[in-house]
Amino acid sequence: MSDRTGLTFRSNYFGDPTAWRALAGLMQDVFGIDVTVLDRLGGPDPSSVAFGWFDTAGACIANFTAFSLPLMVEGRVVRAAGLQSGAVRPDHRGRGLYGDVVQAALAHCDADGFEAVALLTDTPALYRRHGFEPVEQHRFAGPAPAGGTARPVRRLEIGNAADMALLGRLLDDREPVSSRFAPLRQKEMFLFNASLMPDLRLDLMDENIVLAWQEGEDGGFELLDIVGARIPALADILASLRIAPSRAVVHFAPDRLSWEGEALPDTGDMTLMLRTRNGLRPKGPFALPPMAEF
Ligand SMILES: CC(C)(COP(=O)(O)OP(=O)(O)OC[C@H]1O[C@@H](n2cnc3c(N)ncnc32)[C@H](O)[C@@H]1OP(=O)(O)O)[C@@H](O)C(=O)NCCC(=O)NCCS
Repeated sequence: MSDRTGLTFRSNYFGDPTAWRALAGLMQDVFGIDVTVLDRLGGPDPSSVAFGWFDTAGACIANFTAFSLPLMVEGRVVRAAGLQSGAVRPDHRGRGLYGDVVQAALAHCDADGFEAVALLTDTPALYRRHGFEPVEQHRFAGPAPAGGTARPVRRLEIGNAADMALLGRLLDDREPVSSRFAPLRQKEMFLFNASLMPDLRLDLMDENIVLAWQEGEDGGFELLDIVGARIPALADILASLRIAPSRAVVHFAPDRLSWEGEALPDTGDMTLMLRTRNGLRPKGPFALPPMAEF
């Protein structure tokens, strides 16, 4: 290990508000993302265990955060972890600090017995050496179904505290949106992602199902996620929203929507990588819903 003089390694430090703000500074400086938005949404995922190097002035120099990301995969609940917020300040790169935090986060996941570890990256080469393999994601496109049954719907507003409290309760106790691959919870990242998406629409159907959707560039319908105790058919969703687009794009495996679309490989910058003990993979095409990205 090269010299770490003047730096202090800290584990599981989110209970210290000063250290959390220091991580927010690192995220702002490296990614231009303001994670303090989470403070107004109820805080970061309470399962988070962060590993970081800090300097004597308290600045966060390097970090990687593990959190619990239980998944449904092919009808089975998988105890998985996610890794996020991986970065090193530019003037400290190339000294092995990232290697330190990656190893600490993975040792934590292994000691805790997680069956799978997932991350999203634009640099897969960084993680292959640690046992991660890329998995291809798809979106699903096809003619929109007609003839569904309309149910009562009302728009939720991100700025409305009562609406967000209701959404939070539904996120705490949701059905997986797909049996092939879906997060079981992922509440904090849903709320965070929603706050960053000006075109996102959140519509409450039947008082207990939230539809996260947006209009596509061509006027088509894009379904990003469904949060509720029941997953309705796509035809009923469109009838309830009182829209009749010609095409629909669904950003997760649509096995619970009574509709099929053509699976199109995802062409985005970020690659989903998995590290598993048993080669666990969905058998068919799938995607992590955009609202669950981390
Ligand atoms: C990626 C990043 C965290 C690496 O930090 P670092 O301090 O240079 O990392 P380390 O010195 O610990 O290097 C770890 C290893 O990764 C390798 N590595 C570093 N950057 C790499 C890259 N872009 N592509 C492939 N390998 C890379 C190093 O060569 C080193 O390999 P070695 O152990 O065989 O020498 C840093 O460049 C960064 O913060 N970048 C911007 C944010 C980012 O990309 N975060 C990760 C995205 S999920």
